[in-house]
Amino acid sequence: MSGTLVLRAGLAGLALAALATGLATPAEAAKVSHVKKAPFGTTVKGEKVQIYTLTNKNGLEARIATYGGTIVSLKTPDKAGKLANIVLGFDRIEPYQKGVPYFGALIGRYGNRLANGTIVIDGQTYKLPQNDGTNTLHGGPKGFDKVVWQAKPYEDKNGPGLKLTYVSADGEMGFPGALTVHVTYQLRNDNALSIDYEATTDKPTVANLTNHSYFNLTGDTDTPILDHLMTINADKITPVDKRLIPTGDLKDVTGTPFDFRKATAIGDRIGADDEQLKLAGGYDHNWVLNQPKPGEEILAAKVVEPKSGRTLEVRTVEPGVQFYAGNFLDGKPAGVGTVFKHRTGFCLETQHYPDSPNQPNFPSTELRPGQVYKTHTVFVFGVEK
Ligand code: BGC
Repeated sequence: MSGTLVLRAGLAGLALAALATGLATPAEAAKVSHVKKAPFGTTVKGEKVQIYTLTNKNGLEARIATYGGTIVSLKTPDKAGKLANIVLGFDRIEPYQKGVPYFGALIGRYGNRLANGTIVIDGQTYKLPQNDGTNTLHGGPKGFDKVVWQAKPYEDKNGPGLKLTYVSADGEMGFPGALTVHVTYQLRNDNALSIDYEATTDKPTVANLTNHSYFNLTGDTDTPILDHLMTINADKITPVDKRLIPTGDLKDVTGTPFDFRKATAIGDRIGADDEQLKLAGGYDHNWVLNQPKPGEEILAAKVVEPKSGRTLEVRTVEPGVQFYAGNFLDGKPAGVGTVFKHRTGFCLETQHYPDSPNQPNFPSTELRPGQVYKTHTVFVFGVEK
C-alpha cells in the first residue's frame, strides 16, 4: 500500500471512529478512542437510546445506556485475569422499561424513601407521587432511572468517560425547581469507576442522587451473593419501621447482625432472629458511615468474593450507604428473557440518609438556588489471591 493509501485508510478509520463515538470530527473521535457508541433501542415514547462502551487500558469495560444513565454491564478481571460481567443487567432496553428494580440506574431526585410522599421546604408542603406503599421511592414512578440522558463521551489521562446531562422540569414528580443534573462516569485506568454528580436548581428543592448497581463479584449473575465477604465502615445504622422509613434514631451495630466492621459473609447472619432484618426481609438499611468530617472521602465498604478473588471498594463523600442484599429479587421474568433470582446481587447505594427532608436530626438534603450540589463515589476493582 502506498503512503497515501495508508493515510486514507487511517483517515477512514478515524471517520468511522467518529461515527461510532457520535463525535463531530475524526480528531475529536481520536481523542476518545476508548469510547464506542451504538444504538440500544427506542423508548415506548419513541426516544432513541444509545449505549456507550468504555474500555480502560487494562481491558476493563463498562457499558452505559442513556436510558436511566444505566450501567448495563461491567467487566472486571478475576484473580486469573479472566474478565467477566459483575453487575445485573440486560442487553436490550425492553426489560428496563418493564419496571425492573433500578438495575444499574441513576437514582434521583431523591434516592431512597420519603415518608407519606411528602416533603416540606420553607414551610411549604409538596405532595409527591407514591410508588412504594405510602412512600415515594427513588424519585417516584418516573425518576431519573426512566428518563433519557444527553451524553457526551470524553477521555483524559485517567481514562475514558461519559458525561450525562438531564434537566428535570420544575414540578417533575412533584419536586419544586428545575434541576439541572450532570453525572460523569469515568472508567479509570487504575481500575476504578468514578461517578461525579452535580446539580443546580432555580427554586429551593432537595437532592439525593445515587447509582443503583447490583453487584455479583462471582462473575456469574445466577449465583447468590451470600458468600461475599462484606465490610462496612460504620458503627451505626438508621433503624426503620415497617414502612422501611427511619425511626429517626441511630442504632449501634455492636452485637447485632449489622456489625460489618470486620469482614463477614453476607449470608452468615441474614436469617438471624432480628427485628430489623425481619422488617426488611434481610439487609436493606442505611449504614451511618464513620466519616471524620462531613464531606470527607472515606472507604465506606469493601467486598471480597473468595472464589474469584475479585474485590470491590466503595469510596464516597456521602454520609451513608444503603446496603441492599437483593431480598426482593424473586426470579420472576422481567417481561422478556433473563431472570434474576433471590439475592443474586447486592447494592451499595451511597447517599444521604433516607427520608432526610422529614428528619430534623439528619444531615440536610436541601439545595437552594446559587448552591451547587456536588458529590462523588468511586468503585475500585481489585483482586486478592
Ligand atoms: C431499596 C429496596 C428496594 C430496592 C429496589 C433499594 O434501594 O432499599 O427496598 O427494593 O431499592 O427497588
